[in-house]
Amino acid sequence: MDIIVDPTHELMSQSAARIIADAIRAKPNLSLLIATGNTPIECYRQLSAIVTSEHIDTSRLVAVQLDEYVSPENNSNAPSLFDWMQRELLQPLVIDSGNVVRFEMGQSMPRATVDVYDTKVGSIGGIDLAILGLGPNGHLGFNEPPSAPDAPTRLVDLTPESLISNQPYWDDSQIVPSQAFTAGMTTILGARKILLLVSGAHKNTVLRHAITGPVSDLLPASQLQSVSGNVTILADNAAWGDIERR
Ligand code: GLP
Repeated sequence: MDIIVDPTHELMSQSAARIIADAIRAKPNLSLLIATGNTPIECYRQLSAIVTSEHIDTSRLVAVQLDEYVSPENNSNAPSLFDWMQRELLQPLVIDSGNVVRFEMGQSMPRATVDVYDTKVGSIGGIDLAILGLGPNGHLGFNEPPSAPDAPTRLVDLTPESLISNQPYWDDSQIVPSQAFTAGMTTILGARKILLLVSGAHKNTVLRHAITGPVSDLLPASQLQSVSGNVTILADNAAWGDIERR
């Protein structure tokens, strides 16, 4: 596991953006698994600035959605992680809609949404680079505890912790739904490279358990230890605290 600890959220975001930009330059048809949440937003802004200033070609970049709420279809004000990803990354990087893999809603059965997603991820050869945040309860995407390392792409019930941690992303009229689709642990752990971005003192305890505690389904992020050769943790000082480097 590579570990990069930067003094601030902004510097951590710069480090992450540099790694992602270099990966796109090295492989223009890179497949990128994209977390939403507050942690990576600054990284996405800095990535967009680098892509523009260094004229990096994003025309063949493939963006893969990590997770999505399931809202009633007739609710036009429903919170949408796809809209978030579109605003923060797809539009700034000018990613072609034909190069986006998302959870397509409106399928009659959740199984169909999952199958379409998995088929598309398979057809692009899986994930080259996964950008992940760390849930306060140790989830990756919406792989809520307990999630086994072979947990597939699926519809999940959100835990009370996730409902609470996600509600501040939205205004009062947008209630976080109780269910979501998530890329499975198989897709995440199968990524050729994983960046886990962790920021803020409130993530210190869960980060410590994830990287120094036992590997357990009860803390899905701890399973990154099993694929540690592919993982880079990017943390700011507040999140890292006094965790011992091994
Ligand atoms: C959310 C999302 C994750 C995200 C994580 C951390 O619930 N499902 O994909 O990475 O929790 O969010 P934040 O970066 O806002 O702390």
